[in-house]
Amino acid sequence: MKPTQVFYHPGTVTREERAALLKQAGATVWFTGLSGSGKSTLAVALEQVLIQRGHAAYVLDGDNVRLGLNAGPKVLMEARGYAEDRAKRFGLGFSAADREENIRRIGEVAKLFADAGLFALTSFISPYRADRDAARKAHQGNKGGAIPFVEVYVNTPIECCEQRDPKGLYKQAREAVAAGKGMGFTGVDDPYEPPAAPELTFDAGKQSVEEGVALVLNYLQDKGLVRG
Ligand SMILES: Nc1ncnc2c1ncn2[C@@H]1O[C@H](COP(=O)(O)OP(=O)(O)O)[C@@H](O)[C@H]1O
Ligand SMILES: [Mg+2]
Repeated sequence: MKPTQVFYHPGTVTREERAALLKQAGATVWFTGLSGSGKSTLAVALEQVLIQRGHAAYVLDGDNVRLGLNAGPKVLMEARGYAEDRAKRFGLGFSAADREENIRRIGEVAKLFADAGLFALTSFISPYRADRDAARKAHQGNKGGAIPFVEVYVNTPIECCEQRDPKGLYKQAREAVAAGKGMGFTGVDDPYEPPAAPELTFDAGKQSVEEGVALVLNYLQDKGLVRG
């Protein structure tokens, strides 16, 4: 094996120059919460409003990313023709280690989008505190200058998520647990670690999507990240 050394190569375009071009500096808005808590709904609504107001924004969503960048072995074999051993090596599942790697990659992609000047809106359960904190740290330590990282805890009670259960996943998970198999499903037989100090908290059991959008927009305005 050849030894390889990798060195960061700085560009010459500054974050200020990018911000002047796009009339925004970019930031990551990180939605975290249980399955069915309303992350995707809120992220997609916020994206629409930001775009309407003349801001470039892009949603990175859990399920979508797991069909592409962070596909699992099955997708890699069926859609990309990977051999089984290669698919297992590079595909991501839902074990603790794979969830960690999933979030690490998302954190890095969001950072790149935000560094390019966009609002990166990430919608992932991201159940482990250490993984979210690592994404925050990556933004703070960005080589071209710190990037704002706004953690939004979508704190909808599990009873409400489970009642809505649009994908039928809680039902599946409860049945798996009852059958003694388990599924490693967040909130049922895998932990969700709530953020210790999120910038914002939203409860989709009590608050409307419009209220959620206003909550985040107000915060971004207060921080001077979007126009008033
Ligand atoms: N603020 C809200 N009020 C009422 N229902 C909501 C709200 N936000 C989301 N929902 C509904 O809750 C369900 C789960 O939302 P979703 O955005 O898919 O959650 P997640 O992406 O966190 O899994 C969907 O059926 C959605 O229509
Ligand atoms: Mg979702």
